Amino acid sequence: MEDKLKILREKRLEALIGGGKDKIDKQHKSGKLTARERIYLLLDNGSFQELDAFVMHQCTHFGLEDKKILGDGVVTGYGTVNGRLVYVFSQDFTVFGGSLGEAFANKVCKIMDLAMKTGAPVVGINDSGGARIQEGVVSLGGYAEIFFRNTLSSGVIPQISIITGPCAGGAVYSPALTDFIIMVKNTSHMFITGPEVIKSITGEEITFEQLGGAVSHSSKSGVAHFSAEDEKDGFNILKKLLSFIPSNNMEKAPYLKPKDTPNRMAKELVDIVPSDSNKPYNIKQVIEHIVDDGDFLEVHKNWAKNIVVGFARLNGRSCGIVANQPNYIAGCLDINASIKGARFVRFCDAFNIPLVTFVDVPGFLPGSAQEYGGIIRNGAKLLYAYCEATVPKLTVITRKAYGGAYDVMCSKHIRADMNYAWPTAEIAVMGPEGAVNIIFKKEIAESKEPEKTRKRLIAEYEEKFENPYIAAEQGYIDEVIEPQETRPKLIVALESLLNKRETRPHKKHGSIPL
Ligand code: HXC
Repeated sequence: MEDKLKILREKRLEALIGGGKDKIDKQHKSGKLTARERIYLLLDNGSFQELDAFVMHQCTHFGLEDKKILGDGVVTGYGTVNGRLVYVFSQDFTVFGGSLGEAFANKVCKIMDLAMKTGAPVVGINDSGGARIQEGVVSLGGYAEIFFRNTLSSGVIPQISIITGPCAGGAVYSPALTDFIIMVKNTSHMFITGPEVIKSITGEEITFEQLGGAVSHSSKSGVAHFSAEDEKDGFNILKKLLSFIPSNNMEKAPYLKPKDTPNRMAKELVDIVPSDSNKPYNIKQVIEHIVDDGDFLEVHKNWAKNIVVGFARLNGRSCGIVANQPNYIAGCLDINASIKGARFVRFCDAFNIPLVTFVDVPGFLPGSAQEYGGIIRNGAKLLYAYCEATVPKLTVITRKAYGGAYDVMCSKHIRADMNYAWPTAEIAVMGPEGAVNIIFKKEIAESKEPEKTRKRLIAEYEEKFENPYIAAEQGYIDEVIEPQETRPKLIVALESLLNKRETRPHKKHGSIPL
């Protein structure tokens, strides 16, 4: 027995060092952690259970038959994060550059299948040179097996990707199919074609970081939801994100007892909306004054800043926050804001996370760039997502709610459960100037003093429509509340809706305007 145990122990030790000490040193020198060090940062101490540590490739092309490494370039298994089961795969750049072949793909698929069977999230740690070139089409097949599972898992179990090295070509599509992407500044890169190919085809010169770094993808393309300062920061973001979401679509998110009291009045909110309705304010301050302990995990912080989305808790229960941001292009809805909002709303709805929407929206952003870019088709995504969502939906109009954007931003008509408005709310078809110029065009033109007439009519319109009371008379607003009451009102409403049941017509799936 002793001999047999010795063999096993030696093999285990061999598997632990992946591509060997030199490659590990190189990995560290380039500012990156190893595949295992990353898993240890993610999972609770001592919880990692590795699977398939002795798997090796069967490829016999290009001399690969003489190069076999235990584990084949990916470390897979399961463990816990804050006591909750999580499956993980971590690509090992020290082995064939973390490139994906058949055996590698089979390992990843095995843990994805287990995660689906057990209803637990999958975390993918990406650091890879892409398809293993020596394995040819077999590695493409391996990728597609993963893509297929990513798609089947979507909306059933949460899938989170952290990019800690290269992730290029078709390989980007596995992270792209997952729910959230976290990128690490300076060491991670995602692109379909790299700088050299771009230079040869278009002549454009661009660095890896400019093209596919964390800053570019979290501010320009919206591909990355979070941009981390370093790997440790990235895993901290990941763990915090997991704390807000349930393990699968049949569960609720974990309850976390707050330090805050549910009936706390937020007096700071009383004067937060400026008396001049064209002046901006920061909606994030509103959110932070209302939610438990001011704790708000913002998603897509640097992309489409005119809408703010993220996770927070109300009396310990996780909710998804969506809010127009008056501080950025006056909080108008544009193409990117609509896409950002829609994706977030759909994630929350898929995973039983109630939605709280704060509205201060003057309308959709005007301009030919928006029209040609398809604001009609893209704005419809947000509308569709809200209509489709059956989780508890609470809405608070803090100031402007004009035109189609009023309808879109979780109005009563698209089945919000509770609609509140602050006394500063302005709910109308359009702002006073635009409205008066249209409906009183003739009267103004025929007037002896057109400017004076226009001003008088604007003042009359403002008095009549720039308030929440006409909508409240219609029952479109359930209650006009004082800003400081918002937290207790939302908590009571949310708790009343915990057992909400709402269904939609049975269908294979809808045809969302992609
Ligand atoms: C096999 C690979 C590999 C690959 C890297 N290696 N990429 N082996 N298949 N795709 C190996 C290298 O040969 C080297 O082996 C080791 O990994 C480390 O690579 P280096 O080049 O020394 O590292 P570095 O200088 O840091 O550069 C990293 C890199 C570069 C930028 C990722 O390796 C690179 O450009 N690789 C090719 C990327 C690529 O074109 N992949 C295919 C993309 S298409 P040794 O033994 O020397 O240490 C694709 C399609 C997916 O992925 C489609 C899905 C549908």
